[in-house]
Order: sequence, then C-alpha cells, then structure tokens
Amino acid sequence: MKIDVVSIFPQYLAPLQLSLVGKAIESNLISVNVHDLRDATSDPHRTVDDTPYGGGPGMVMLAEPWGKVLDELVTAESVLVIPTPSGIPFTQEIAESLAQRPLLIFGCGRYEGIDARVVEHYETKTTVLELSIGDYVLAGGEVAALVMIEAIARLIPGVLGNSQSAADDSFAPSAYGRLLEGPVFTKPSQWRGIEVPSVLLSGNHAEIAAWRLAQARQRTAERRPDLTGE
Ligand code: 6GU
Repeated sequence: MKIDVVSIFPQYLAPLQLSLVGKAIESNLISVNVHDLRDATSDPHRTVDDTPYGGGPGMVMLAEPWGKVLDELVTAESVLVIPTPSGIPFTQEIAESLAQRPLLIFGCGRYEGIDARVVEHYETKTTVLELSIGDYVLAGGEVAALVMIEAIARLIPGVLGNSQSAADDSFAPSAYGRLLEGPVFTKPSQWRGIEVPSVLLSGNHAEIAAWRLAQARQRTAERRPDLTGE
C-alpha cells in the first residue's frame, strides 16, 4: 500500500516513522510520502488560506494549492481521505476496507476547513471520504490522519507480528457482533491481594473462551450499549 499525506505541517507526521507503522515502512509493506501544501503555492507568502465567502470567523483553505498537489497524486484507484469533524465516523469496518486499497491520500486541513469545491471536483476523479475520528474538534486533520493510518496499517497482512492478532481486538468482527475486549491478566497470579480469575489458570480452553466471551459481552453492554443493538 502507498500512502500520501498532504499538510502544511509535514513534521506533524514524523511519528509515522516510529513503532508499528515505521516497521511496516522498513519492511516495504507500506510506503508513506508526506507533502508540504505550501510547496504548491506560487506567491511570495506561500498563502494557503483566505477569508470565508459569506463572512464569519476563521479562515478557509484555498482550493488552488490543493488542486495543484492532488492533481499529481490522485488516480482512479486511489481513495482520497479528508479528515474533518464534519465527516462520517471512522470505524473499524472502514479501516478494514481501506486496508485493502493500493493507494490512500490524506488531505489534512487546518482552520475552518478546505474550500468545498475541492471535494466536489475530486469526487469526479476518485473515491473521496470525509471522515471524523470522534465527536470533538481537533486543530487540524494531522492527528486524525495519524490515528487512521495506524488503525489501517495494523490490518495489512504481515504488519502485526505472529504473536499478535487482530482477531481478538475490540471491534473485531465475531459471531456475536463487534464486541469490546474484556480484561486481561499476566503474572504474578496474585498482586496486592488481587487474584487472577481462577478459570484463566484452569487450562480448560473451552471454559476460558466461554468466560472471555461473557466478559466481552458484559463490558460491551455496560460501556457501549450502542454496539449491542440496544
Ligand atoms: Cl478527522 N479532524 C479534525 N480537525 N477534528 C476532528 C476530526 C478530524 N475528528 C474529530 N475531530
């Protein structure tokens, strides 16, 4: 998979070189290229924004620099992701489908967003998704892009080590729907007077699986009733 990220703060994406995504880049499972939107400007001040038509607070990102940089990146096979709090919710299901695509382009806006004609234009050229990572407002799309890229990258075959598996994660699909993961324990079996649940020490794999499923369903019902179909 190839990933392009466009931002006016390319250094914000430096963490992609670390940890799981960094290792996936080193292993050539993914490639990441970060582009500075200001390199697509032609005025001395490298202007990327202007005041909104119709008035109101804040600044809106100019369509023209976005057009210049995206014309060089977008193909019929790409998915253009625009992180925005006004997008549809980014979910594990969307991460799973994006993990199967050959080319993802993240267009990170700042200020009050990008001139809406940019999305309208590129919808005629490629798949465009305006995605939100939650019901709160960030200062820009960069941190949201980091979140989405990490969630997507770990679903690409070979990125997670053999010792890990995405199959038991919270939100992983199961016969019982997408459940939260229950509690986990490691040694010692007693810590500050608190025992590990005895079933986990029993060696009975069927009982352990049944206990873990019950814990997952209880936790999901308590914390995320919206996931259970209420
Ligand atoms: Cl994707 N972007 C911004 N700027 N704020 C957000 C968001 C995205 N998702 C939630 N808040």
